[in-house]
Amino acid sequence: MKKSVLVLGLAAVIFTSCGEKKKEEVKKEVETKVEAVEEKVADAGDNIELGKQLFSDKTCTTCHQPDAKVIGPSIKEIVKVYDEQNGDLVKFLKGESPAIVDTDPGQVAIMKANLDGFVKDLTGDELAALAAYMRSVK
Ligand code: HEC
Repeated sequence: MKKSVLVLGLAAVIFTSCGEKKKEEVKKEVETKVEAVEEKVADAGDNIELGKQLFSDKTCTTCHQPDAKVIGPSIKEIVKVYDEQNGDLVKFLKGESPAIVDTDPGQVAIMKANLDGFVKDLTGDELAALAAYMRSVK
């Protein structure tokens, strides 16, 4: 609903500021942009669902609970530190950036074993989905 109001609003503004000839062109352009935004919104939702699924299928839940430390830090703790330090979860999962949440060597080794073991076989999309899910945990 809101989106269609936005489209109409945008279109109205652009129409009044453009010549007659361009009307159709501009309308198409606006519609394409709105479609792209809608797709992104839908993707983000799917991503979180996929991430949630992966988080449990790939056994992340064994060591990471939403709100309590089990073996690894809680999801909330991880996201909090990543937000504070402007970290990149996907980069960490790709093994491209070091641990910043728990830097105890023994702890890092446990997570590193996962990264080297099975996380390396996940696709970029799957890693992005895992990160999206972790960020969605409230
Ligand atoms: C066997 C237990 C275990 C499993 C399974 C596990 N982790 Fe971890 N994880 C840890 C431990 C321990 C740490 C703390 C060391 C560290 O921060 O690197 C950690 C840390 C992390 C961190 C924070 C890294 C940082 O910057 O400090 C992220 C993100 C993470 N895990 C994601 C995942 C994801 C996603 C999965 C599933 C694909 C997963 N973990 C599976 C034990 C585990």
